[in-house]
Amino acid sequence: MKERLNFFAKRLALMIGAALLLLPGGLAAGEFTQPIKFSHKTHAGTNKVPCEFCHIYARRSLVSGIPPVRTCVGCHSMVKGTEPWQQKEIKKVLKYWEEQRPIEWKKIHDVPDFVNFSHKRHIQIGFDCTQCHGDVTKIEEWTMDNMKQPLAMGWCVKCHMTQHPTANGKIAGPARPTRGAPAVSEAVAQQPDGVISGSRDCFICHK
Ligand code: HEC
Ligand code: HEC
Ligand code: HEC
Ligand code: HEC
Ligand code: HEC
Repeated sequence: MKERLNFFAKRLALMIGAALLLLPGGLAAGEFTQPIKFSHKTHAGTNKVPCEFCHIYARRSLVSGIPPVRTCVGCHSMVKGTEPWQQKEIKKVLKYWEEQRPIEWKKIHDVPDFVNFSHKRHIQIGFDCTQCHGDVTKIEEWTMDNMKQPLAMGWCVKCHMTQHPTANGKIAGPARPTRGAPAVSEAVAQQPDGVISGSRDCFICHK
């Protein structure tokens, strides 16, 4: 009996602990948790800056990479912002540049280290960013909740088992508009030239 009570006491303590973790910890609703209020909606949406203007490694390496402050300053030495809140946030960016400090962005999308994932392979075969990340042009702030995918093993494997129709040897749609998407979709509508799928081999993803 004593042991049971002990068990319940522990559970209660755990539940209170969990409830405390869920409390917003001093953050007001809608407040950003990143060091700078960086919005994909503003950049990739309203101002139509292409994904790969900032994430230059996506097609060349394992990671897409987060742009250095230099990339931001390329625009923000001129673009100072319209609204006072924008000006305030952009000043912060310029301060990082002045002090030659990197911005410490928190990483949201993260597969464990024992998983082998490569952007390059998926981009070069023709997948679009939206396929895995959804419509990023509507995202104000990345959080664990608005991540389109859980990045779980089942998600990877399910797509690897899918037979994707190809045109000119590339996955057909949703292809990137900037990389000849309309031409590719048209070609595949008429005659797909084959299908491609990924591997289910454990050692492909777990080296
Ligand atoms: C003006 C530069 C810029 C553009 C354009 C841009 N991004 Fe980003 N992206 C960033 C920065 C800075 C971060 C890190 C801060 C954050 O998480 O919002 C980031 C973060 C991300 C992340 C998540 C990183 C993480 O921590 O998990 C994804 C996914 C992403 N971008 C995808 C895209 C896609 C897809 C597009 C095009 C629709 C795009 N980005 C356009 C600058 C940019
Ligand atoms: C290709 C040009 C370009 C690049 C590169 C760029 N920005 Fe911007 N940024 C803009 C424009 C345009 C606005 C909108 C300004 C306005 O509405 O007055 C903006 C707005 C902002 C704002 C104000 C908040 C908002 O959403 O309107 C912040 C903060 C910001 N950018 C941070 C960054 C950071 C950090 C980077 C680098 C990772 C970056 N920008 C790279 C063009 C750029
Ligand atoms: C096949 C699915 C897939 C596609 C397509 C894809 N991504 Fe990702 N992305 C991921 C996964 C999985 C992660 C987490 C990787 C990790 O933790 O190593 C990620 C992480 C990221 C990150 C965080 C930083 C990094 O490199 O780990 C950024 C930024 C990003 N992706 C941008 C993009 C952009 C831009 C495109 C289109 C050019 C794109 N992604 C296409 C699956 C994808
Ligand atoms: C949207 C569909 C899709 C998703 C999601 C996806 N993949 Fe893939 N992946 C593919 C396809 C199709 C190929 C084959 C590409 C080729 O043959 O060039 C591939 C290839 C690969 C390769 C290269 C295999 C080789 O032979 O070297 C690795 C590694 C890989 N994927 C890992 C992952 C991991 C890890 C995840 C999840 C985090 C993932 N993929 C999610 C479709 C996907
Ligand atoms: C297409 C990529 C892919 C393939 C193929 C794959 N895995 Fe995984 N696996 C993943 C990813 C991604 C995770 C991380 C999931 C997460 O963090 O929730 C993972 C996680 C795991 C884990 C840890 C599970 C856990 O709950 O922590 C084990 C064990 C595992 N995989 C074994 C295997 C075995 C055995 C095979 C072959 C039958 C296999 N995997 C094939 C992508 C893959």
